Parts: sequence; structure tokens; C-alpha cells
Amino acid sequence: MYNKHFGFKEAPFNMTPNSRYFFSSSRHTEALSTLIYAIEERKGFVVITGEIGSGKTTVCRALLNQLNALTQTALVTNTHISGKDLLVTVLEDLEVEFTPGSKARLLSQLNQYLIDQLRNDRNVVLIIDEAQNLSASVLEEVRMLSNLETENEKLVQIIFLGQPELKRKLSSPRLEQLRQRIAVFYHLLPLSYEDTKEYILHRGRVASSSERAFFTDAAIDLVYAFTKGVPRLINQICDSALLSGYIAGVSIINEDLMREVIEESPMMQIARSSKNHIEKLEQDLGEFLAWKREKHVI
Ligand SMILES: Nc1ncnc2c1ncn2[C@@H]1O[C@H](COP(=O)(O)OP(=O)(O)O)[C@@H](O)[C@H]1O
Ligand SMILES: [Mg+2]
Repeated sequence: MYNKHFGFKEAPFNMTPNSRYFFSSSRHTEALSTLIYAIEERKGFVVITGEIGSGKTTVCRALLNQLNALTQTALVTNTHISGKDLLVTVLEDLEVEFTPGSKARLLSQLNQYLIDQLRNDRNVVLIIDEAQNLSASVLEEVRMLSNLETENEKLVQIIFLGQPELKRKLSSPRLEQLRQRIAVFYHLLPLSYEDTKEYILHRGRVASSSERAFFTDAAIDLVYAFTKGVPRLINQICDSALLSGYIAGVSIINEDLMREVIEESPMMQIARSSKNHIEKLEQDLGEFLAWKREKHVI
């Protein structure tokens, strides 16, 4: 709606994943390198946690774009499935020709496939997104998969992506055996202040193919104070702000407009039902500005 007004080819803060918009923040880069390292070194089992909207799925997509042809991948995104369905999904995703049957039968066919891949110098990666939803029986299945190994190599690299509660779930005593198999844990933090700024500029640049600013520095400071650097929230606020900017007929979003947008955002409406929302925002912003001054960023 506002694209023409601002000179965008497409909406810069669209939620649909698009690799052209990938921003190599220090944290996303670190998460991605952690995954690549673990896969290449055949580390076995890796867990990446992060708050909703921090960019886990985005990192996973960047990973899929980077893996070479010698790496076969299976991606499981529906985590409300049974243990047996998990095996079927994995076999199907890897395009293995298999005979349906019991879980044991499926597992042995998968094992055979993995051995063949290893023999051909191929690596197999199983990625499970939203892994915090997995039931105990599916987690047990994953444990069986992580047991598949030769004397000195893991046959399949398993990656769990999930919200912080995944870590809590995995720390249950019942999952001790599975936990022992985890080679790497990585927690993806939201963007830093500097990266939030760069992230907003980056998306604007990609969408407009220009260097011009669409938000004043003070407006961006408000975005950071409000979103704490969570990309999904940054997208929501910046998208609403551009819409408001278009309606108001301005070419750059300033602090006042951004404040209005934040005040009217659904997240703020929810916060409003718990008292002192404006004071809280002011307080967050005050703390943030004090921090910035201390660091001599301003
Ligand atoms: N590094 C990044 N570069 C570009 N966009 C990002 C990045 N990280 C997150 N996003 C954007 O933020 C939104 C939420 O990211 P997502 O990967 O879905 O989070 P999660 O899977 O952790 O809930 C997506 O719309 C995505 O486009
Ligand atoms: Mg996700």
C-alpha cells in the first residue's frame, strides 16, 4: 500500500521469509557458523534456542541455502506428530524408497540409507523446527536416531530449533540420555542496539535499492527500546510505522510518529491491560538512553 509512496519494490518488513533480506547480524552469523561447524564435523546433535521471533527459522533457511550438494537434509516443521510419523516424514523428505511397516522396520531402513550415504561421503542432516512441542515418544525416537552411528562417526546430524522452553524440557531427568547426546547448545539472542539499527537500514536498502533513511535515529531508538531487538517485533512496528507515515504523507518516520505507532500497536494494547504501560516504555527508553550515553554511542 505504501510501497509507491516510499519508493519500495516490495514491503521491506514483510514477515514472509526471503533470503534476499537476510541480515548477517553478529548473532545470526554466530548461530549459522555453529550449525555449519557441527554439521561438517559430524558432531551429532545440536540445539538452538531463542525467543519467538528471534530468527531461528531464518537461520535455518540460510543454512539450507549454504549446504552443499553432498549434504542431504530432512526438515520437520510439524512437531505435533507421533514417533512413527516422524520416521515416515524423515524417510519421505530424504526421498528414500522404503517399505512401510513397524517403527523398527522403518528405523532399520533409515539406518541402511544412512550407512549408504556415509559410504558415498554424504552427510545427512535432520532439522526439527519448533522442537519444544515434541512429545516424549517423539523425543525417544530422536534418541534412537541419534544412536545411529558407526564406530567413530555419527550417521545423522540432528538439529533442534526451539523456544527457550525446549531447554527446560530437555533438562527433565527422563531425558537424561538424550541430553547426554547434545554436542552443542546455542542460544540466539535478539539483535544488539547497533545491529537493530543496521537491520532496519538493511531492509530499507534492499527494498528501495537506495541509501536513503526512512526512520530518524530517534525513531529507531524507540523501536529498539520497545522491541529489545527481536526481529519479528521490529518488523511489525516498522511496517505499521511506514503505513502511518504514508497516511500522514511524510517521507521519513520521526520520533513522534513512531511513539504514536508503538502506543497503538497490538502489543501495547495488551500491555495496556497491565498498568503503567507508558511509564514502562519511558522507563525502558530512559534506561536505554543512559546506557547509550555511558557507552558513548551518543
Ligand atoms: N537475520 C535476519 N535477517 C533478516 N530477517 C530476519 C533475521 N532474523 C529474523 N528475521 C525476520 O524476523 C522474523 C522472525 O524470524 P523467525 O526466523 O521466523 O523467528 P523464529 O523462528 O525464531 O520465531 C521473520 O519475518 C524474519 O524475516
Ligand atoms: Mg520459527
